[in-house]
Amino acid sequence: MALLRALCARNILPSVFRAQTQSLGIGIGMVGGLFTHYSRSLHTFSLPDLPYDYSALEPYISGEIMHLHHLKHHQGYVTNYNKALEQLHDAIAKGDSAAVAKLHSAINFNGGGHINHSIFWKNLASVHEGGGEPPKGSLGWAIDEHFGSYGALVQKINTEAAALQGSGWVWLGLDKEANKLVVETTANQDPLVTKGPTLVPLLGIDVWEHAYYLQYKNARPDYLKNIWKIINWKYANEIYEQECP
Ligand SMILES: [Fe+2]
Repeated sequence: MALLRALCARNILPSVFRAQTQSLGIGIGMVGGLFTHYSRSLHTFSLPDLPYDYSALEPYISGEIMHLHHLKHHQGYVTNYNKALEQLHDAIAKGDSAAVAKLHSAINFNGGGHINHSIFWKNLASVHEGGGEPPKGSLGWAIDEHFGSYGALVQKINTEAAALQGSGWVWLGLDKEANKLVVETTANQDPLVTKGPTLVPLLGIDVWEHAYYLQYKNARPDYLKNIWKIINWKYANEIYEQECP
């Protein structure tokens, strides 16, 4: 617990980890100069349904990939996240700082995996449901202003995603503080917020091989070229307008 307190006080504990101690109902605070904590019930996470059928994104992403990606990969992150959070709950209750510290990476990885995939599913839509239609509304204007054109944004994201070493994500985000759009990449399952606390994800593209390998093999650029045909810009615009009214 001393370690947890020190990490919080020095703002070292990643935001995902801090958020999870809150969702676990574990409060951390200083009262009268004393460090106090309290525990409520354990919150668990569940796999969200996809907003479309597994085959809805064909021919650009096969039903087989979507099935495995959702039911095996995303479910795996959720299961391991819940397991790690339960262990964290127990470790904190026992005051076992070493066990708390040890759980840090599992919580970041699996929690990030759950957060990122939950966004990713909403960022996609079948062609019949408007997938691939270029961004309209305020976000369309903002893209033109920040990147020159929609085509320039696509090129920038594809270039950064193709250059990403190993597994990770490429993002279009809104920096709420600077009031500007940004393109960022994150490694592994790090969420966009790890690149800056004021960044809000509008669009996240999964660049892990499990997202495309069964269909595209090692041709990541082909996957990136085709994914624009099923991007749900309506959803990204809704988030942008909520955050930037
Ligand atoms: Fe994935």
